[in-house]
Amino acid sequence: MNNLTNKRILLGVSGSIAAYKSPDIVRRLQDLGAEVRVIITTGGREFVSELSLQTISKNKVHDNLWDKEAELAMGHIELAKWADAVIIAPASANTIARLCHGKADDLLSTVILATNASVLIAPSMNQQMFASKAIKENLKILNNRGVVTINPGFGEQACGDVGEGRLAEPEEIAKQVANMFSDSALSGRKVLITIGGTIEAIDPVRYISNHSSGKMGMALAHACIQAGAETTLIIGSISVEIEKRAEVIYITSANEMFNAVMKKIENQDLFISCAAVADFRPTKISHNKIKKDGKLAVIELTKNKDILESVCKLKNKPVCIGFAAETENFLANARAKLKNKKCDAIILNDISNSDIGLNSDENEVHFISQEKTEKIDKSSKQIIAEKIIKKVTKYFF
Ligand code: C5P
Repeated sequence: MNNLTNKRILLGVSGSIAAYKSPDIVRRLQDLGAEVRVIITTGGREFVSELSLQTISKNKVHDNLWDKEAELAMGHIELAKWADAVIIAPASANTIARLCHGKADDLLSTVILATNASVLIAPSMNQQMFASKAIKENLKILNNRGVVTINPGFGEQACGDVGEGRLAEPEEIAKQVANMFSDSALSGRKVLITIGGTIEAIDPVRYISNHSSGKMGMALAHACIQAGAETTLIIGSISVEIEKRAEVIYITSANEMFNAVMKKIENQDLFISCAAVADFRPTKISHNKIKKDGKLAVIELTKNKDILESVCKLKNKPVCIGFAAETENFLANARAKLKNKKCDAIILNDISNSDIGLNSDENEVHFISQEKTEKIDKSSKQIIAEKIIKKVTKYFF
């Protein structure tokens, strides 16, 4: 079966010698059933003719953000909405850096900001450039935002160097675009994810919270959407970009998160409790700002309801996945949580190591279910999220 039948693929061609292969990429995508439109950057135009791309794609090539006629026919927002997936191949070092910074000064970068579709990039550049720290870090930032990298190949390059940086083969690129649509293990499923920290007010100015960034939860949101799930996010305090394709509910306190979850939980197939919910809240919230010369010595705390445990007790509970952020007795504590909260799996996080866990870009976790414990090696949170979702679908759906 052609995986791209009826799929609308937008191909971005940027400035790299490998742009000469882009008509072949169009052809390979079409062979898999896709309708293809092309955006070319100023740099891309130096290496491949628009006429070739227009003839093969059977569509006018889009190249100008400021062209009034083009905007009337199919403007940047329409193009962004039209695409089921956007693939930038070749993706030059400059284009990668510009995407990283959210630039919107040409058609391709603007469309990338405006699209809800999956974005893939196939880097192509000199091996020394590809090995540079800047490129590696830029790719990591994009990957953490859910952009999928199609890794370049190793071999002889147009400049005569030998190394990693050659554009992946057109056939491989088309295959990986098609794979984005075949990974629909959660298609037709509903997923609810809690993300970020909660904020527990002390007075109108001060509060109790934690260091959660929401990175792991948002990576899980990308992974669920990628797997075809209808995804709802209940978001507390975070410092990451929000997944645009999800339904989003904002909350502040643990109590608000509890109410939002309970209101949404019916008919969910999967509940992922990734939020760092405050275990306690101040018993009384002072109506006025507490004066520093006042008599306050102790803030009395009241225990918050455990949201995950409450969901696990529901009669028609969804598959429930919890997180355990631990600083000691890791496996024992996590297994106790699995048992006490009666969830289906716990993702264990060692937060005593600052390279992984809370607020960092990478993670290393254990996937603990009733049957087994499996380590997921250190990687970006996006990769970890994809591996978690693969295990969840394999074991529970
Ligand atoms: O018991 P502990 O707080 O370590 O458990 C962590 C797991 O429980 C996480 O999945 C977290 O989202 C969830 N939790 C919750 N409600 C709370 C506290 C934790 O859902 N009040």
